[in-house]
Amino acid sequence: MERLMTAEEWVPVLDEKVLDENLGECVAPKGYPVLLMKRYGQIFALSNQCPHMGCTLGGGMMDGYILTCPCHDWQFDIRTGRMAGVENDIVLRSYEWRIDSGKISIKIKGD
Ligand code: FES
Repeated sequence: MERLMTAEEWVPVLDEKVLDENLGECVAPKGYPVLLMKRYGQIFALSNQCPHMGCTLGGGMMDGYILTCPCHDWQFDIRTGRMAGVENDIVLRSYEWRIDSGKISIKIKGD
């Protein structure tokens, strides 16, 4: 019998100590592509799919809080998810996260 997803669910994805300051981790709670990053001690969880043409952002370069997509160099501020350097409404989806017993969990909403 298939388990139905509730309206929202916390999904454990990664041990916190595995998350490195300089390397993002690609995870897929309930199939949602999420990029976990740690910058200056702060954790961020964003969509791992570029809104331009869908490339995986996990291979992108970081400069401060700016993440550059490896495919066509669109840039995003990981603090807000907003596209950097230009005025528009393009925003990467952000996910809430929490740490339970040393494991990072991502909040997934059934939508
Ligand atoms: S797919 Fe990311 S900039 Fe084109």
